[in-house]
Amino acid sequence: MFDVEKIREQFPILGREVYGRPLVYLDSGATAQKPQCVIDAECRIYLELNANVHRGAHWLSEETTTRYEAARERIARFIGASEREEIVFTSGATAALNTVAYAWCGTFLEAGDNVVVTEMEHHSNLVPWQAACERRGAELRVIPFDDAGCLRTELLETLIDRRTKVVAVTQASNTLGTRPDLRRVIDAARAAGAVTVVDGCQGIVHGGVDVGALGCDFYAFSGHKLFGPTGIGVLYGRRELLERMPPFLYGGDMVDRVTFERTTYAPVPLKFEAGTANYVGAIALGEAVRFVEELPRAEVEAYEQELLRYAEAQLGEIEGLRIYGTAPGKCSIVSFNVAGVHPLDLGMILDKLGIAVRTGQHCAEPVMTHFGVKGMCRASLALYNTRAEIDALAAGVRRAVRMLR
Ligand code: ALA
Repeated sequence: MFDVEKIREQFPILGREVYGRPLVYLDSGATAQKPQCVIDAECRIYLELNANVHRGAHWLSEETTTRYEAARERIARFIGASEREEIVFTSGATAALNTVAYAWCGTFLEAGDNVVVTEMEHHSNLVPWQAACERRGAELRVIPFDDAGCLRTELLETLIDRRTKVVAVTQASNTLGTRPDLRRVIDAARAAGAVTVVDGCQGIVHGGVDVGALGCDFYAFSGHKLFGPTGIGVLYGRRELLERMPPFLYGGDMVDRVTFERTTYAPVPLKFEAGTANYVGAIALGEAVRFVEELPRAEVEAYEQELLRYAEAQLGEIEGLRIYGTAPGKCSIVSFNVAGVHPLDLGMILDKLGIAVRTGQHCAEPVMTHFGVKGMCRASLALYNTRAEIDALAAGVRRAVRMLR
């Protein structure tokens, strides 16, 4: 059986105190804490191996390069890519999404075309497309969600047409927890000849992904939400599309031949990895993926779902508290407000009790607009959280509300 205490032992930070109280970390949607094995992997590279990849003929460089490429291979297998060349290392999901928004749209999006996004996107999977549409004279279309936070997929056929070049959709909303029916979205996009771009930042953590089975064209995620380091992310692209897409950043290591007359580019994925790669981050992300692979997947999902139901029940008993996002099958994210209480004030009092939640717009202002609020409190639950921590949250919210009212 899934043993949360055994998991917690692997995350040293969870044992610390904040303001003299045990830390209750409920902000894993913003960034997850790191297991000891990831911290050790990162340390070991600096202690034993450090050298730039793909450049030196010396032992250290070759060894680091081998491990960098092995991390790529592991990540490719982990997400169901058919080959490791389909994995591009980026600085994060935002850089991955911007790469496609610049490079793909700069070549294939024309005036009069459209890009379709959803109303629940994180700004990172919305603003790059909006800016691309502005640059190219294209239209941005939005698939709305209903008040439960379910994506209104019945509108897909109305919104997607033969001028749709890109459909960008989240695998799991960072605010509502909704996991849209990606199959349905991808089928509709494909029928219209549009490419699909999936933001997997939250989704990959809660349930993983098989991009091959899903059939998406591009998939982006960041390392730090998947128990890996910051400053590293992944862009998956189907090989054929990566080959057709021009580079986004230009410089060292992404070239084949350089003359003043003309430059030719390295094969994929290096064509998209200009400059010194974050090889330390990539190798440590490979370790984070190993950590996740060794978890009992189904048990983790069941545990997170049970925690989510418990949190919804506990918070739901608080007078005036509203939870945003009740879509069936949602992941373990609970956003809420209490009538008459500003979410920032609530978050600040919770912080003084040692409880870390995110407050504000969660980089998803259109979701706030949908519900007519300026911000929300969000508890994002991970496999290392416990029922006792949910109890602390509910008690903390009650206490804060008494003080603030
Ligand atoms: N995208 C991260 C979040 O949802 C930062 O908090």
